Amino acid sequence: MLYVVVCHVLLFSACISEAYKVKLPEKVVVPAVYAFGDSIVDQGNNNYIATTVKCNFPPYGKDLRDAIPTGRFSNAKTPPDLIAEELGIKGLIPAYLDPNLKDEDLKTGVSFASGGCGYDPLTGSALSILHLSDQLTLFQEYIEKLKSLVGKQEATHILNNSFYMVVAGSNDFLNNYYVTGFRKHQYDINSYIDHIVSWASNFVQELYKLGARRIGVMGLPPLGCVPFQRTLLGGIISRVCVDEYNQDAQLANTKFGVAFDLLSKTLPQSKLFFIDIYNLVTDFIVNSTKYGFEEVEKGCCGTGTIEVSALCNKYSATCEDDTKYLFWDSFHPTEKGYRIVIDHVIKYYMKNLL
Ligand SMILES: *[C@@H]1O[C@H](CO)[C@@H](O)[C@H](O)[C@H]1NC(C)=O
Ligand SMILES: *[C@@H]1O[C@H](CO)[C@@H](O)[C@H](O)[C@H]1NC(C)=O
Repeated sequence: MLYVVVCHVLLFSACISEAYKVKLPEKVVVPAVYAFGDSIVDQGNNNYIATTVKCNFPPYGKDLRDAIPTGRFSNAKTPPDLIAEELGIKGLIPAYLDPNLKDEDLKTGVSFASGGCGYDPLTGSALSILHLSDQLTLFQEYIEKLKSLVGKQEATHILNNSFYMVVAGSNDFLNNYYVTGFRKHQYDINSYIDHIVSWASNFVQELYKLGARRIGVMGLPPLGCVPFQRTLLGGIISRVCVDEYNQDAQLANTKFGVAFDLLSKTLPQSKLFFIDIYNLVTDFIVNSTKYGFEEVEKGCCGTGTIEVSALCNKYSATCEDDTKYLFWDSFHPTEKGYRIVIDHVIKYYMKNLL
């Protein structure tokens, strides 16, 4: 049995009110956590490639031990870390491209994700990031390393039983479809969503072919409420959420849900599930005080309205207490925000691993 106390210094309310167990039957072991996708789960891969989409400088990582900026797009831990922590595997999931990786790191999981990535192969193509196809290539390389490390049989066991986390899609809409306009000429939003869903399904099937069975795909948040989008389109003073983007995100989530439901039935022994976080994150925004948030419309870094990546840097002042903020920069949540999402995932979705 795995015992997980959901209690953290950053989350006082949870410490007081909630300590619960994730009960997995004794034979269910999750040996490793793997992550694929975009900046939400990029643990520092972009540090080692020729892209400008980076954040391995202060104030990023300011609340991690020793305040080291690791390339995580947050003030501290990100979803792969929190999942691994709650499953009792380890405290930090490292980036696969980290040259200091140890054998033990390989055995218990790494991230292949890259900030700026999307399901659409065109997303981020001007940014020299790792596309999902590149991430799969690295995963194949990883599998060979794992085999030579622990033997073929044990490698298969690890790959088959571990948890795979896929987070992408935001950049397809926010940075590709709405902005560059290239896909807009080709597809209306409805058919673009269909393409995104089909690219995502193909990706999951590729993971499955390589041995993945327990796969959680995270859906889209209310895209129109991201601080940067409020700044851009929500009005200079009012900074309201962009309704159109939120509606598109909801439609995409509905289609993802249907597609993955279907897919999970066609992949034998798969435990594939779609994690819809839309309503939870909307609740953060509408009922912020329930979660202890005092600011949900701006990030903690700089003015909180535009700063992200290179614009959030050592010259940016930060808010006094980022546990009161939903967003760390103008795109990415704080560890506190991530932690509540992951608590929810553990509580409502992890039973699907069985
Ligand atoms: C692979 O994992 C699934 C559960 O995800 C399990 O049902 C199956 O027996 C495992 N197969 C092997 C060969 O370990
Ligand atoms: C906000 O909280 C109220 C009362 O708990 C609830 O009925 C409502 O659904 C919440 N709003 C959102 C967007 O979740």
